[in-house]
Amino acid sequence: MSLLFDLCSECPVFMESTLTARDRVGVQDFVLLENYTSEAAFIENLRRRFGENLIYTYIGSVLVSVNPNKDLEIYSKAHMERYRGVSFYEISPHIYAVSDNTYRAMRTERRDQCILISGESGAGKTEASKKILQYYATTCPVTDHLSTLRDRLLQSNPVLEAFGNAKTLRNDNSSRFGKYMDVQFDFRGAPIGGHILNYLLEKSRVVHQNHGERNFHIFYQLLEGGEQDLLSKLGLERNAQKYQYLVKGCCPRVSSINDKNDWRTVRKALTVIGFHEDEVEDLLNIIASVLHLGNTQFGEGKNGENQITTETQLKYLSKLLGVDGAALREALTHKKITAKGEEMISPLSFEQAVAARDALAKAVYGRAFTWLVVKINQSLAFKGSSSVIGLLDIYGFEVFQHNSFEQFCINYCNEKLHQLFIELTLKSEQEEYEAEGITWEPVKYFDNKIICDLVEGKHKGLISILDEECLRPGEPSDISFLEKLEDTLGGHAHFVTHKLSNGKTRKAVSREEFKLIHYAGEVNYSVNGFLDKNKDLLYRNLKEVICQSNSQVLSQCFHREEVTDQKRPETAATQFKNSLAKLIEILMSKEPSYVRCIKPNDAKQSGRFDEALVRHQVKYLGLMENLRVRRAGFAYRRHYETFLQRYKSLCPGTWPNWQGRLADGVATLVQHLGYKPEEYKLGKTKIFIRFPKTLFSTEDSLEARRPALVLTLQTSWRGYRERAKYLRIRQAVIQSAWRGMISRQKARRRRHAVDIIRKFIKGFIYRHYERCPENEYFLDHQRFSFLMMLFRNPPKSVLDKSWPIPPPCLTEASEHLCRLCMRNMMRAYCRRIQPEWKKQMEQKVVASQIFKDQKDSYPQSVPKLFVASRLNSEEFNLKVIQTLGNDKVKYGIAVTKYDRRGYKARPRQLLLTSSFAMLVAEAKLKQRIDYATLRSISVSSLSDGFMVLHVPSEDNKQKSDVVLQCDHLIEVVTKLATMADKKIKVNMSPDSITFAVARGKEGVIDFTSGPELKVAKCKKGHLLVTAPKLNP
Ligand SMILES: Nc1ncnc2c1ncn2[C@@H]1O[C@H](COP(=O)(O)OP(=O)(O)O)[C@@H](O)[C@H]1O
Ligand SMILES: [Mg+2]
Repeated sequence: MSLLFDLCSECPVFMESTLTARDRVGVQDFVLLENYTSEAAFIENLRRRFGENLIYTYIGSVLVSVNPNKDLEIYSKAHMERYRGVSFYEISPHIYAVSDNTYRAMRTERRDQCILISGESGAGKTEASKKILQYYATTCPVTDHLSTLRDRLLQSNPVLEAFGNAKTLRNDNSSRFGKYMDVQFDFRGAPIGGHILNYLLEKSRVVHQNHGERNFHIFYQLLEGGEQDLLSKLGLERNAQKYQYLVKGCCPRVSSINDKNDWRTVRKALTVIGFHEDEVEDLLNIIASVLHLGNTQFGEGKNGENQITTETQLKYLSKLLGVDGAALREALTHKKITAKGEEMISPLSFEQAVAARDALAKAVYGRAFTWLVVKINQSLAFKGSSSVIGLLDIYGFEVFQHNSFEQFCINYCNEKLHQLFIELTLKSEQEEYEAEGITWEPVKYFDNKIICDLVEGKHKGLISILDEECLRPGEPSDISFLEKLEDTLGGHAHFVTHKLSNGKTRKAVSREEFKLIHYAGEVNYSVNGFLDKNKDLLYRNLKEVICQSNSQVLSQCFHREEVTDQKRPETAATQFKNSLAKLIEILMSKEPSYVRCIKPNDAKQSGRFDEALVRHQVKYLGLMENLRVRRAGFAYRRHYETFLQRYKSLCPGTWPNWQGRLADGVATLVQHLGYKPEEYKLGKTKIFIRFPKTLFSTEDSLEARRPALVLTLQTSWRGYRERAKYLRIRQAVIQSAWRGMISRQKARRRRHAVDIIRKFIKGFIYRHYERCPENEYFLDHQRFSFLMMLFRNPPKSVLDKSWPIPPPCLTEASEHLCRLCMRNMMRAYCRRIQPEWKKQMEQKVVASQIFKDQKDSYPQSVPKLFVASRLNSEEFNLKVIQTLGNDKVKYGIAVTKYDRRGYKARPRQLLLTSSFAMLVAEAKLKQRIDYATLRSISVSSLSDGFMVLHVPSEDNKQKSDVVLQCDHLIEVVTKLATMADKKIKVNMSPDSITFAVARGKEGVIDFTSGPELKVAKCKKGHLLVTAPKLNP
């Protein structure tokens, strides 16, 4: 890849260009910072880039992202395409580069991946995770079936945000829960399923919000967007000010949020994900019931007892929660205690009742949220093998003025994630060194295991002590918990309290606080509320009432076994600890990528870079530590090919092209550049450069060489351009001469053609005149054409009677020619005829004279050749032959003879000699008919084989007419006629033949046409022959 011209601002800024552009917009990878231990240099680099809207910067493979708080034009589909399949270093840092790299690693290495996104609230974590999801949704292959799943995956976001996000001081859309989401991909890389794990919803927000903050979005969305019918059914008014749980922060409306639109989005999303209408109804009932709970008031009754003063609320509560009103009333104002094995009911004080009410609201909301996640998971579920990319969008380190139980859990979580991060970064560094065959040099880093142990240790850990304090009999309190901590953890290097600190530091911790020295810094936690929040308990009788609910969703949230089960439920901290351990396990099994989010100011303003705030985050995200680990070995590493391609012009040995092994080329190059042995290492496929300054000096040499390079390039470019120009001109000259010649030739031909056409047209007009100069050409042309046509296509055979029509002047000549031609052809034909064939033709001519147009079967007989005889000489009876003397049998055929009386059919042979015919049965000569006496032959006009030979019968002794039937009738009759010298008359009779039986007596054969040949005697004593008609 040539990077010589990559400085132009429109084309994508390549990673390597950071080397040359370092003075302008800093470095794109922090590892290239010379002074990598300087926090100031780090922040300056961030600031410079932020000023240019370059919000992404790498630390090796970790992406640091600064929230721009404005829409940048860097998330279009075209941008996604630009990052698709492109190597990490080839293009400017982007969240899409991380997404694509992770996706490709999953596909090529077949290893599950995860992307860990961390940062303070409002730093852009959720936006980053959405960008990643969108990248996959747009760029991954998708089928029709999968597009449903993709939609659900995307639509799960607005639903979770409605129920789990809220406006805070830091972020108008702050996620108030931790989220880990698995996206599953099939073997083609198409998304096929998903699974979400949720962590630690900030339930306290349901009942209380700090000034300037809001409750969860869904409440406002329902009130703003819900149809009037729905609100009436839920007993709600379209006015957030009316609800105690929504007014604490004095902030019902936020300019950046459109609750009405969001409501529509959420309702649609619920349908897309596949929520049933009943379920949505139940869910909204729960949301409404929380608002009614907030408005439930207590007051003093007649007897001074504490009672509910808001009956309407109670009525709606019982309806919406699906529970018995009276039971709920009692549970909200009384508690059940067990003393000496006996259950007793005791009234609650005003404060206790309020606390019980709030606890119920929090529990109901919290569990409904978990139920929501379970339902979404069901709709995204895919069972089968898949590869996974996990997305962790979890709260970053939180340090407020007052930090409580929630911050404790969140910071503990970050402590764990940091531990994982350091371990895995070191591990991957180590793996790369190993793969490249470079010795690993141990890196010193702060191991925060000591703090993790301080929090989660088995008996001496903070959480264990807290749990113990919650469970112990007596009167445990937040203060007694603090004292217990001091007793157990006093002296731990990372744990300080007011009592444990010395005079100097004492001021920094108040009496109700303990301080933890986290890897990222010190945080004071106030113990107030720790015990209650950890127990997270509902009074038992309240739980009993809710467990009886007939709402589908609530009965899935509160199981009846909970009330009967004697086992104590896990405390909140332990639950969190366990789920965190599980999360770490999940993350450990995957290859991680990191996105570290930073917010540049607290005011959600664009373009403002608050250095103090950023420094704080850089510290709390452990970015300096991260950079140190990454830089402990080598600052820069590149594949040999990339390195050589960029710097080959700096060494005569490698310029313009290196022909040998890449590694040798790089070795030659760095030797020429004078790299010292400690400055670099050559691995198997990559060069490792320890200090950025080495690289920068190389880069500067490249910069210095550039003018000379440009000059060389320019010179050769100009030479090339001039030569190309010369060649173009030369070609043009030759071409124009050639074209002139061709054109002249064409013009000549055209002129000639015009001449001819003109003469032709004139001649055509004068064609009927005598020959004159005007028609001379036309007539000659006509004559010539006719004769040429005859010459080219003369008639082919004697049978071909076609002849072209001649022009008038050639009519006579044409007739002569036609005759001549025919005669010639006939002569040639006759000369070719063989004697055999001639005989055959003669017979066929006789047959034609007799039968043509007379007998139905004639046309079929024409193509069949006549044979010499139908009987072989062996078939003749010897005795009969002997009687013939000199006469020879010339033709014989088997026939059927019908008796003249009674028409009995008898087989006979009909034999023909040159002077007579005879009928023979076996050895007997039955009848001899001299041709001289044969008067005539009668046949029908149909396709039968009958013939009657008429013989004079004056002589009584002599036999009379013969009725015969045979195949090949035409052949037999033709033979007979030929032998009898054609003197015999052949009668063709259409319907009957009369013949003599004896003197004066006659017989008749009737002929009719029918489907097939049939011979029968009919009533009149005639013989009836039915014969088929072969020709119409
Ligand atoms: N990449 C970005 N481009 C534009 N605006 C962003 C970007 N990241 C975050 N923001 C803005 O910052 C706000 C807070 O971001 P968010 O991701 O919700 O923070 P977090 O999840 O870290 O609390 C968003 O609502 C959005 O207005
Ligand atoms: Mg968020």
